[in-house]
Amino acid sequence: METFKTELDADGILLCTFDVPGKSMNTFTKQALADLAAIAEQAKSDAAVKGVVLTSGKTTGFCAGADLEEMLSGAWEAKNVAQDEQSILKANFDAAFEMNRVYRLLETCGKPVAVAINGLALGGGLEVSLACHYRVLSNGPKVQVGLPEVKIGLFPGGGGSQRLPRLIGVQAALMAMSEGKSFKPAEALAAGIVDEVVDDDKVVEAAKNWIKTKGDPVARWDKKDFKIPGGGPYHPAGAQIFIMGNALIRKQSYGNYPAVINLMHSVYEGLQVPFDTAIKIESRFFCKTLSTPQAKSMIRTFFMSMQAIGKGSGRPAGVPKTDVTQVAVIGAGMMGAGIAYVSALAGIRTILLDRDQAAADKGKAHCEDLLKKSVSRGKMTQEKAQSILDLITATPDYAAITGSDLVVEAVFENTDLKEQVTKQAEAPLYANGKEAPIFGTNTSTIPISLLAGASSHAENYIGIHFFSPVDKMMLVEIIRGAKTSDATVAKAIDYALKIKKTPVVVNDSRFFFANRCFIPFTAEGMIMWSEGVAPALIDNAGRMTGMPRGPLEMMDDVALDLLTKITSETAKAMGDAYQPIPGEKEVAQMVADGRLGRKNGKGFYDYPEAKGAPKTLWSGTLDMFPVTMAEANPAEVEELKKRLLYVQAVTAARCFEEGVITNPREADVGSILGWGFAPWSGGIISLMDSIGIAKFVEELDRMTKLYGERFAPPQLLRDMATKGETFYGRFDKKAAKAA
Ligand code: NAI
Repeated sequence: METFKTELDADGILLCTFDVPGKSMNTFTKQALADLAAIAEQAKSDAAVKGVVLTSGKTTGFCAGADLEEMLSGAWEAKNVAQDEQSILKANFDAAFEMNRVYRLLETCGKPVAVAINGLALGGGLEVSLACHYRVLSNGPKVQVGLPEVKIGLFPGGGGSQRLPRLIGVQAALMAMSEGKSFKPAEALAAGIVDEVVDDDKVVEAAKNWIKTKGDPVARWDKKDFKIPGGGPYHPAGAQIFIMGNALIRKQSYGNYPAVINLMHSVYEGLQVPFDTAIKIESRFFCKTLSTPQAKSMIRTFFMSMQAIGKGSGRPAGVPKTDVTQVAVIGAGMMGAGIAYVSALAGIRTILLDRDQAAADKGKAHCEDLLKKSVSRGKMTQEKAQSILDLITATPDYAAITGSDLVVEAVFENTDLKEQVTKQAEAPLYANGKEAPIFGTNTSTIPISLLAGASSHAENYIGIHFFSPVDKMMLVEIIRGAKTSDATVAKAIDYALKIKKTPVVVNDSRFFFANRCFIPFTAEGMIMWSEGVAPALIDNAGRMTGMPRGPLEMMDDVALDLLTKITSETAKAMGDAYQPIPGEKEVAQMVADGRLGRKNGKGFYDYPEAKGAPKTLWSGTLDMFPVTMAEANPAEVEELKKRLLYVQAVTAARCFEEGVITNPREADVGSILGWGFAPWSGGIISLMDSIGIAKFVEELDRMTKLYGERFAPPQLLRDMATKGETFYGRFDKKAAKAA
């Protein structure tokens, strides 16, 4: 057998060790499913087999689920049948059902089956475990189980949506599956997902022991007197859960996620029928979900792109791997302190420098606070936290930079100051530095090539742009200036990977990529406000697009004074070419009146001090531009949503045309991780691809007439529309040609 090793012991227990060759983690490929089916057949027909124990031969965990690469590569789609819609659906259904058929075969083989889950078991890994009659879980520190499929636009389609509610009740199961929650061993035991938790080296023994002592070969849902814990859909309490759950899910996701809606259907319909029919219902909804553009885009972005970029796929070829052991962070403010924290967390010696000792100490104190939180949450021991803190040296002395592999400059956003700091820092950096150290700036707006003018080694000068809060935000934009060398880009990527961030490489441009696309979202919100659209309507429309907050709320979060500063700097830099945004004068007035946004509790909204109390709209927000659209019909809401999404997307298309960003995968991942762009779309580029470029251009032309030039499609989009191209298709064709 290719993917399982089997071994029959003296007690007649068939130990099956899952170990897909050549992979660091097990996934259910077609081959693995075929092998599991053979195991089930053997258990059924071989009288010598008294019971079966499944476990994993990998140190990384038990199983990460279905093989998404195989699923998306078309192995799951009908290639060899007539391509009419019905036959495609039928073939997809057969593929989706195969997993259910095999798990069911194991569950009904007539012999007791126990699983020894010796590590991570997610998605299909947990689903196969649910099809076993007894589950033993290791209590190792990195062990977790769960059904996270919704995070990639799917729902559990290997029996999970049927077995979990039958095991732990509808409410708990729906919550776990609709949030994609993962459970640590103690939580999984308390929730009833597993039967026993033991030390890692005892899992197989405990599983075998159950077979020898109790060994019931019938699943509880196959017994005559089975009742769904807490009641099923036909039970009054159960029915209520569905009504509330449905409303809640629609409110949370605004209908953007068909996976969650289909999950509800699958559970609701499936629980009313016997199990064998239930898994067919599940397969039907699963296959429907798999064919949605949301699922395809999300799988592509979250799984494939993120994995590749998380391994540094944008790194220039041929540069040997580098290691950063000492970093100097200049400016110990909000960003600098965060950068020092994530660096030390990765074991890097960190010099945290500010104008005076007190300012530097304040930055280090911020790191200490974050570490204390980790300790109090049981994520880290006190000793570990102290050893991380000890890696950080807070100082005002530039000489301390000597010997660093990398500098990250995060002083105030001011060109003159940054230039002066660059000169001051490069003296010790290059005086006695290691071989070719690099200099990164965390500027959010100033062109890298401009700042590089102050550097004595422009080839080693680069933008390393973090997002706030640094400890939480995954994205780091690596910005290449005109003179930045490949070796410097590679080193910056190596550093980003070492501190466990996702690096996306972009070329120099005002605001780079992320902010350049994100700022139009807030600007569009301001324009709507100036048009008299009710602020609540603007922010609701924003959230309905799938963004984490509406544009005005988002501006309050970012800070209105910062945005005003950016606006005035941009106006200064662009001179006559600058076109003021309606509402920007009013926002500047708010700042002058001390309304700085959420940080001081006053912005477009008033934020009460009491924790958890809801914000309320500030009356001045309504006075400055009288409301003429207080309510909107569904078509008008759709139009507001479209404006907020498309204005970002068309900006991304311009970035492509200008070569600011070149890889659609990096753009998609960057948009979701950097500014929370609608995850259901798969990212800002996938959105345009899935609308279809020709249709997108048509809409942009219409919107340009109505709202102005900011919606005007760039020539690149028109050319792509004529040729019938997609961004992904175009990029992959180019990459294939280059290879
Ligand atoms: P901040 O005002 O919190 O911190 C700036 C720090 O630089 C202060 O502690 C200040 O004392 C220090 N500083 C000033 N002159 C110095 C000098 N000559 N030598 C050493 N230290 C000096 O500012 P924040 O928000 O941390 O921003 C820093 C940089 O990061 C700016 O370039 C900003 O544009 C950029 N950025 C900010 C983001 C944000 O959300 N706040 C996001 C991404 C980038």
